Parts: sequence; structure tokens; C-alpha cells
Amino acid sequence: MIYKLTSYIKFLVNGKSKYNIHSPFFHEFIDKVLVHDGDFYCYPAIEHVRNQMSTMNSKIQRNDLGAGSKYRGDTSKKVKTILKHSQSSPQKAQLLFRMVNYFNPTFILELGTSFGFTTAYLANANKSSKVIGVEGDEHIYQLAQKNIKLLGIKNINLINASFEAVLPKLSNYDFNFIYFDGNHTKAATLKYFNWALENVKENDVFIFDDIYWSKEMHDAWNNIVDHQKTTLTIDLFSIGVVFFNKNLSKENFKLIHRANFY
Ligand SMILES: C[S@@+](CC[C@H](N)C(=O)[O-])C[C@H]1O[C@@H](n2cnc3c(N)ncnc32)[C@H](O)[C@@H]1O
Repeated sequence: MIYKLTSYIKFLVNGKSKYNIHSPFFHEFIDKVLVHDGDFYCYPAIEHVRNQMSTMNSKIQRNDLGAGSKYRGDTSKKVKTILKHSQSSPQKAQLLFRMVNYFNPTFILELGTSFGFTTAYLANANKSSKVIGVEGDEHIYQLAQKNIKLLGIKNINLINASFEAVLPKLSNYDFNFIYFDGNHTKAATLKYFNWALENVKENDVFIFDDIYWSKEMHDAWNNIVDHQKTTLTIDLFSIGVVFFNKNLSKENFKLIHRANFY
């Protein structure tokens, strides 16, 4: 928390507002994706299911394969507690929805699905896309399956496996949009990034969550920003957005925007 707080002060010092940005691509991204307050048809249903879960006092046995696991003592946790601590906010999930709506990817991968709410947003944004969500915790995965069924979404394939085990099997998929949201260590994040780079194409988009979660996550983000294959990178503080299009100049923008708090 302290790392995040001090980082945000530095972020504000180096950050820019949309008025300091000259790239037309970036301007359009801000106007059409970031700045959008309207409700889309699928938002209420997903949030209704999330609200119902937020009152679930039943406990499940946690088997967190990610970096968060070192902070837990008792391995059984109330569903509502897991929901509170490990989900992307509705605002962040809705921002990702608008990104999918805008970029129109065909194959989407979410590493770290949890209860499936963001997965539901990703899938609803383009119903002809195919979304693969990977979740290592069996009990969480089962609840995610239930949620997706309840919401009647057909274009999601959830996989219950560790990222390490499943990624080599997913190499044949042509993912265009990848949301990296699990196992927040530098080594793991860079390992997944390097895996994804093997098949990356010009118009693909990668999103990294929690890039200021810890110093090592921020180091990983800086490595991604500096990588020779990445071009424009947008640091929204809450997430990092990565482009590979060679028509975009290689720059990292720290954008001061309300999305910094999503
Ligand atoms: C932050 S939560 C994902 C939140 C979700 N993407 C959302 O937007 O609401 C991270 C999830 O990744 C899973 N996870 C972490 N490390 C993993 C690994 N190595 N393999 C598979 N799942 C993992 C955890 O069990 C956890 O449910």
C-alpha cells in the first residue's frame, strides 16, 4: 500500500493529461474508450450476479497459485472476502469491455479469471470472439463456471489449470487481446509476457494489471515498456496497456486520468 501511494505521487509528477498528448491514435483511444460513462446492455446483469455473490458467507478452500498466496494464513476464506480482495472493479472491467468493443479482437485470453466477472465483460463486448479464461483454484473456477452459465454466455471457455501447465498448450491460439491478471511476481509476469510475445502481431493488445502492486511488478512493467517489440505503452497506474503497432512511436505515457483509481 505504501509502495502504491509513494508511486502515485511520482506518477503525478511525471504524468500527462490528455491535453499534452499529440498522437491521434492515443487521442481517439481516450475519447472513444477511456472517456465513456454510458451503460451498455450487459452491465446490469453482470453486476447483479456480482452483488449477489458479495453477500455469500459460505467458505471455500483456497489454493492460490499466485503471489497473493504468501499473505494468507487460514486457507479457507469466505466467498465475499475473496470477491472483495481479488476482483477487478466494475469500472476496470467495463473499461476492458470498451477496449474489446473498440479493438474487436477475435481471440481473447485472461490469465487469472477468478469468479469470471471480467471474463463476462470481455466476452459480451464481442460475442463472435472466443474468450479463454484460466483459473488455477478449483473452487473459484467452479463458481466462475456457475456465474458464466447464469449469465448465459456462450463464447467463454474456462480452464482450470496453472498458467505454467496450460500456456504451452495454448501456443496454437492466435490471441489478439491478453489480460494478464494473476501471479504478480516479476519473474512470472515476464515469463507469461515472453510466452505471449512468441506469436504477437502488429495489432495485438496486452493489458497488465497491478503494475504498481509492488516494486517487482513495477520492474516487470518497466521491462515490458523497454522491450524492443513494444511500441506505444499507456500507463494508467491501475493497468498498463501495450501496443505493438510499428506505426505508433515507441513512447510510454503516464496518463493522469480517473482510470488511475479503477
Ligand atoms: C487478481 S485475481 C483475477 C481477477 C480477475 N481477472 C478479475 O478481473 O476480476 C487472480 C487469479 O489468478 C489465479 N492465479 C494466480 N496465479 C495463478 C497461476 N500460476 N495459475 C493459475 N491461476 C493463478 C488466482 O487463483 C486468482 O483467482
